[in-house]
Amino acid sequence: MTADPRSAPEVTELSIDGLLKLEDLVDRTALTELTKSFYVLFGIPVRIYSNDGALLADASNEHEVCAYVNTLGGGRKACTETVRAVRAADPEDATKELVHPCFTGNVYRIVPLDYDSRRIGRIILGPYAPPALNDVPQTFLDVDKGLDKAKALTLLSKVPRAKPETVTRIGNHLKAALDLILFSGHKALLTSQMHLLSVRESYRELQEKNQKLQEAYDRLKELDRLKSNFLATVSHELRTPLTSIIGYSEMLTEGIAGELSTEQAEFVKTIHEKGEQLLGLIKGLLDLSKLESGTMSMRRRNILIKDVLDEVLSTLSPIARKKGVELRLDVDGVSTELRADPERLRQVFINLVDNALKFTPQGGSVTMRARMVTSSSDGEDDAGFALMAPALSKVEVRVIDTGIGIPAHERMKVFDPFYQVDSSSTREYGGTGLGLSIVKRLVEAHGGSVWVEGNEPRGTAFVVRLPPATLASGRPPAPA
Ligand SMILES: Nc1ncnc2c1ncn2[C@@H]1O[C@H](COP(=O)(O)OP(=O)(O)OP(=O)(O)O)[C@@H](O)[C@H]1O
Ligand SMILES: [Mg+2]
Repeated sequence: MTADPRSAPEVTELSIDGLLKLEDLVDRTALTELTKSFYVLFGIPVRIYSNDGALLADASNEHEVCAYVNTLGGGRKACTETVRAVRAADPEDATKELVHPCFTGNVYRIVPLDYDSRRIGRIILGPYAPPALNDVPQTFLDVDKGLDKAKALTLLSKVPRAKPETVTRIGNHLKAALDLILFSGHKALLTSQMHLLSVRESYRELQEKNQKLQEAYDRLKELDRLKSNFLATVSHELRTPLTSIIGYSEMLTEGIAGELSTEQAEFVKTIHEKGEQLLGLIKGLLDLSKLESGTMSMRRRNILIKDVLDEVLSTLSPIARKKGVELRLDVDGVSTELRADPERLRQVFINLVDNALKFTPQGGSVTMRARMVTSSSDGEDDAGFALMAPALSKVEVRVIDTGIGIPAHERMKVFDPFYQVDSSSTREYGGTGLGLSIVKRLVEAHGGSVWVEGNEPRGTAFVVRLPPATLASGRPPAPA
């Protein structure tokens, strides 16, 4: 059933009230075949009408006498009136049949068609000749004074002759056969109604769910917008007093307000460190809200990835050395320029290398490896697209460590704000979980992509791919 539930007639409950029409229940072709077979068997014309008078099946050839009547003076008029009266005649009771005379002496038999105690149509058998018709009746003679009586009698004798009980039997047979057709038609109608109702119900439920989803989505979007605004305002407001705290603690450490005791110096150092940590978090929040709202400013120019990675190496080498982790840079043949904000790219790789160092125990290694790669699209599942899309050259930087690794099922989530794989209170690595969400948005703001893979035999590899300057879209960061 392919009907569009919206355009289907309204069916509010599964009932056949008002729907039981003969024309809906039966197949016209089957009905015509049935009436034809009766006509061929008995020679008596058969017509089936719906309850509102529509002719649904007609198996009849004009009798010669009828053709003759139409040539007579008042013949056509008399014939029309008889036919109209026959069609209007209605046996009030299903068991009764009605015999309607024709002025020619022939008769019609009207058989009511009921289904499920409801009148749904009628069968009209005739005209046929009753056994007693042996002469031209006066009603026929009255039609036209010039009627050729001998001819009329000859033609009347050609009309099939049938006893009343024979016609009753024919009518009953026809009704029984029709009943079968009606029954299967009714079943099919009910089934299709049921189907229509269930489709309509599913459609309605789906619409309701859709509506709810849309509302929930709108609410979430609004909340997200409010959250971003809130973050931006609060972070900004926190930064000012925090700068003072850091500044004053620095001055205290330098002894500007007088010499500090060892214990006082320790306390002030902690205040300074925690202040710096808090400032880092606030900067992260500000960056994230700017990236989400698309208001992060970018100063793009043509740069080489090697210059960015060199800076990252010199910034983080002391930390690596302190931790006993080897930090390497391997840039091989990447002379293609990128169109990027070098400060933001530096931020991306500082974050990635900082993580790699943080999650790699002593004795391990962290490598930044840059290469040119050719790919049709990013990510690992691009086998299907690779055949269709034109291959693109991109700059790929892998930050590979030999650390604790990230389980495969967690790899998609680490880019969510505040998500940390081990978020238990005993977490030993620190951090707030904002780094990678900023990395992802920054990379995407440069028209690139970032994902994480496992490193063999141990550790993690973060992969960043960036388009060369000639292809960089320079699109603004996409709002989350
Ligand atoms: N190289 C890595 N090896 C193992 N786990 C990692 C690595 N990089 C990130 N993760 C996991 O992903 C989480 C999210 O990283 P992200 O940089 O966003 O936050 P963070 O480092 O915990 O805090 P922040 O960067 O804000 O100081 C980390 O807490 C850690 O569980
Ligand atoms: Mg981090």
